[in-house]
Amino acid sequence: MISFVKFCIPYIDIEVSKSLLTLIIFGIHAIKILYIGYIKIKVVRVLDFSQIILNEKQSTKTDDFQGTFLEYLHIVKDNNDIPKLAHERIYKKLIEEGMECIKTEEDIRLRRIYGQDIIKRYGVFEDKFFGIDKTLMKIVRYFYTAAMGGEEARQVLYLVGPVGAGKSSLIDLIKALLEQSEHIYTLEGCPMNEEPLHLIPKASRKTFEEALDVKIEGDLCPICKYRLENEFNGDYEKFPVVKKHFSIKDRQGIGVVPPVDPNNQDTSVLVGSVDISKMDLYAEDDPRVFALNGAFNIANRGLIEFIEVFKNDIEYLYTMLTATQEKLIPSPAKGSMIHFDGVILAHSNETEWNKFRSDHTNEAILDRIVKIEVPYCLELDEEVKIYKKLLKRSKFTHHIAPHTLEIAAMFAILTRLKPSNKVDNITKLRIYNGEDIIEKGTTKRTDIMELKDEFEREGMSGISTRFIMKVIDTGLAECEDGCLNPIILIEMLINGVKELSLNDETKKAYLTLIQDTIKKEYHKILEAEVTRAFIHGYKEQAEDMFNNYLDHAEAYINKTKVKHSDTYPDENFLRSIEEQLGITPSGAKGFRQDVTAYMFTLVRSGQEITYSCYEPLKEAIEKRLTSSVRELTRVITVNKIRNNDQNHKYDAMTQEMKQNGYCDTCCNVVLKYAANNLWKD
Ligand SMILES: Nc1ncnc2c1ncn2[C@@H]1O[C@H](COP(=O)(O)OP(=O)(O)OP(=O)(O)O)[C@@H](O)[C@H]1O
Ligand SMILES: [Mg+2]
Repeated sequence: MISFVKFCIPYIDIEVSKSLLTLIIFGIHAIKILYIGYIKIKVVRVLDFSQIILNEKQSTKTDDFQGTFLEYLHIVKDNNDIPKLAHERIYKKLIEEGMECIKTEEDIRLRRIYGQDIIKRYGVFEDKFFGIDKTLMKIVRYFYTAAMGGEEARQVLYLVGPVGAGKSSLIDLIKALLEQSEHIYTLEGCPMNEEPLHLIPKASRKTFEEALDVKIEGDLCPICKYRLENEFNGDYEKFPVVKKHFSIKDRQGIGVVPPVDPNNQDTSVLVGSVDISKMDLYAEDDPRVFALNGAFNIANRGLIEFIEVFKNDIEYLYTMLTATQEKLIPSPAKGSMIHFDGVILAHSNETEWNKFRSDHTNEAILDRIVKIEVPYCLELDEEVKIYKKLLKRSKFTHHIAPHTLEIAAMFAILTRLKPSNKVDNITKLRIYNGEDIIEKGTTKRTDIMELKDEFEREGMSGISTRFIMKVIDTGLAECEDGCLNPIILIEMLINGVKELSLNDETKKAYLTLIQDTIKKEYHKILEAEVTRAFIHGYKEQAEDMFNNYLDHAEAYINKTKVKHSDTYPDENFLRSIEEQLGITPSGAKGFRQDVTAYMFTLVRSGQEITYSCYEPLKEAIEKRLTSSVRELTRVITVNKIRNNDQNHKYDAMTQEMKQNGYCDTCCNVVLKYAANNLWKD
């Protein structure tokens, strides 16, 4: 800058040019400040709240409709989708965001998890539910068959599962879908928001059904029937029709029934009551005394949710029976039954279900239930996604060290898995996570389906998602320097389990699981991670070793010389890698065949071949490299006084760890921890 000034004004001396430079810089700053100020003024002006409110009102304003039944008939003539029933309305919302049919043959990981099964993923659940694909598919299937008029339309959808498995969240999502769905047309003033087509007398229904290309189901509620006769003289074409939307808050189309005190099972909560203040004016069965404000009444056209359904007395649940099978609910007085079109959702924990099921007198209700199990997630990666989702909703802005959530998820899943005779639980966890695991010392892979077939009820017990989230939250609240790492988390897990109200045996088992299995797994992960960061620069070595192995294995299988060389395969070299996986000499041939066949499929499908594309071989190569650098890593990590070369290597390692998601704090903590706990002789 100075030279530029001097160049422009050559006779100016250096002092003058300095002051000139200061002036220019000052000028630039002043312009900057003015400009920012201008922008701020602009933003403040944009933040005219009355304008924002006006815009918001305009954008959410709906085209209110107020017309007669005659006008409504024309609307339906133009669009016969309008009078759809409740199940169909929800089904259409469920599929609105699309569906992806997962081709397991194209996704190796998913093929390992699901085998030949067809997996459908619905956009509506994306980023909201994880690891329970099959449950979600069953829920959508229920709504589909019900929408098609199948038997499910006359059945209660009942979700059963352990605490904190996502039952309420699933139902909340369905309720939210209803709130977002289009407005419905209803008879004005009808407490049940009923479908205006109910006005059409039985004798004329066929004619209207043909003319409108719709199916008319249900009859007028007693209140609208009374009004039709007395206010409109039977001229149903004049009956006013309005538009309404679903709302939980306004109790419109969505009814919620919490468990009721068994000593006070008053059915008015369900089907409304008789308004005593009007009893002096009208007879008991006069519809004008009815207060149709029960959960079933308001849930008409939408859905009714029974929380902890089986905590209620059986008599209380009989309303469910008629509501499902006959689509009728009792009227508050002795009057005739009232038509009900709505989805009945119920949920509870397994204990309640088992108690209810064991009583034979409940058979009639049991027969009207579609039971869908909502188990805990058993896939490690997906469980981590649940925690991330819940963390996103909180205000915590802490840094979370790599593997922290993974360790928490690992503990949760291990408590949920049933011990198999075929593999240990950690291996089972890895297989369920879609990882390519071969049995120690062989080339055999344990079939996931065989493992799943061992226990039908896996995932229905164990530690809940809620418990883990509480532990993570406590960890975040207590950690220093705004960073949570696996070491603190393990401590928090131990404290959390100690405080749980569990029987002594389970508590002890959980504590051993954390202190033994989880710690060991973390040590393995950490050792691999530190070593990998250390040998980062050795990546080319890994690639070379991999290519060499492939060339030699291929030559071995084809009984030829090694590619581009005049030598035969080096058996010792091949074995030095296979031994890392514990593969016996008799299993070696199978392993080599597997590797070459796998690479062949990759080449055929045009995929890139790198040393990390085949998990078992990657593991073997890293172990082989690790064993040669292990000693060096140990020296460098443990020693406090290092020479120049060691310092350089240490810095390169921490640099690489930071690239892999560690911050200064956790990098420091885990390396200290590694120095004290790993590489013990
Ligand atoms: N598989 C999952 N995918 C995404 N989130 C989940 C999953 N399982 C549980 N959650 C989350 O865990 C939390 C607890 O779930 P929720 O309250 O829905 O459980 P619940 O089955 O109703 O439990 P309870 O029986 O105690 O009422 C929710 O925030 C939910 O979103
Ligand atoms: Mg719940």
